[in-house]
Amino acid sequence: MPQPTILCLASYFKGTTFLKAAKKQGAHVLLLTREKNKDEPWPRDYIDEVFLMPSLSLRPDIFYAVSYLMREHEISQVVPLDDYDVETAAALREHLRLPGVGDSVARFFRDKLAMRLQAEAHGIAVPPFVPVFNYDRLRAFMGRVPPPWVLKPRSEAGAMGIKKVSSAEEVWRRLDELGDQQSFFHLEKFVPGEIYHVDSIVWDGEIQFALPHKYARPPMSVAHEGGVFVSRTLKRDGEEGLAILEMNTRLLRAFELPRGVTHAEFIRGEDGRYYFLEVAARVGGANLEQLIEAASGVNLWAEWAKLEIAFAEGRPYQAPTDSEQYAGVLVCLARQEWPDLAAYVEPEIAYRVHKKYHAGLVVLATDEARVQTLLREYARRFGEDFLAVAPPLDKPPT
Ligand SMILES: Nc1ncnc2c1ncn2[C@@H]1O[C@H](COP(=O)(O)OP(=O)(O)O)[C@@H](O)[C@H]1O
Ligand SMILES: [Mg+2]
Repeated sequence: MPQPTILCLASYFKGTTFLKAAKKQGAHVLLLTREKNKDEPWPRDYIDEVFLMPSLSLRPDIFYAVSYLMREHEISQVVPLDDYDVETAAALREHLRLPGVGDSVARFFRDKLAMRLQAEAHGIAVPPFVPVFNYDRLRAFMGRVPPPWVLKPRSEAGAMGIKKVSSAEEVWRRLDELGDQQSFFHLEKFVPGEIYHVDSIVWDGEIQFALPHKYARPPMSVAHEGGVFVSRTLKRDGEEGLAILEMNTRLLRAFELPRGVTHAEFIRGEDGRYYFLEVAARVGGANLEQLIEAASGVNLWAEWAKLEIAFAEGRPYQAPTDSEQYAGVLVCLARQEWPDLAAYVEPEIAYRVHKKYHAGLVVLATDEARVQTLLREYARRFGEDFLAVAPPLDKPPT
């Protein structure tokens, strides 16, 4: 079996654990990133060659560039390290006839309208929604489903560009502002409730590992109003955990992901029912990597690298077993460039975030209640010690 060559696409500085794990597994690792990320602390010792372009999403430039690389390199797989690269990776696989997710499956994991339609077609509950295509349908929806609604960009992340709207007049005004961009949005019912996430490892179309978590506050409130972002592990066999794990299984089956890692989100409405919110074919951001590693002993980035290389080499893959701990994460924007967390000393601290203008911790315990106590206490202290509030972004930084 020749050494597999993996081409990683990274529009943003992401996935260093993937790059290291891929190299350790014996792959030849190529990184294609944007020129503006060239000085980021990429793990150069684990990357065979780095290639730079002004943008990874411009076509046909990206097709020309990667086809050119193919002349000298026998690329066996293209892997997107950032969510924005998922569609580009799929288009490249289609063009270069490489294995993995192609255009239509990638769309279920990027386009929020496509995920709504696919979930609904498979009987998975979703908030009532309507595309912004036909105005008669849009009017009928607003007449039938009472506000508030959210007008959502179909392919953004981090709650960017989502607007909560409370009248038809507001929707029309906003659509007017959006002009030609409006079909890249959809409208859906705002379902107040608690928000959960399930992070999975998929191999050969089957979920080999999945862990249920719950955000303390809806991510949109944190992104738009500020505050401390908090998530924690749920009991694997508790009522909430089982409900979202089951929904996650139906979801991934319906979306036909052959292999990879996923981050799916669900809302539990005030009616007590669960609704599918969104799913991505990647490791969740905001230090969910360290949260899940603390809770289970499993690093999703490293497992993703292992399973892609196993696939390239025609070997079977088996996800590690869950160590069944409980973990919690807290992250907030900090007033200080390098906030000092020396006063946070509890032995349950499993990881400290090292990022400018951010304060963050992961805690780990054998029981759920201890994690909750620590998170409550630390969230209060973070509010006093570090918390800064920045205006929300409509679009990712360029
Ligand atoms: N239909 C909805 N009802 C209530 N809250 C929503 C709805 N859609 C999105 N949100 C809020 O916005 C956040 C971001 O939405 P999401 O669809 O997950 O997109 P993103 O990719 O930006 O995370 C959610 O975590 C939730 O707080
Ligand atoms: Mg989300």
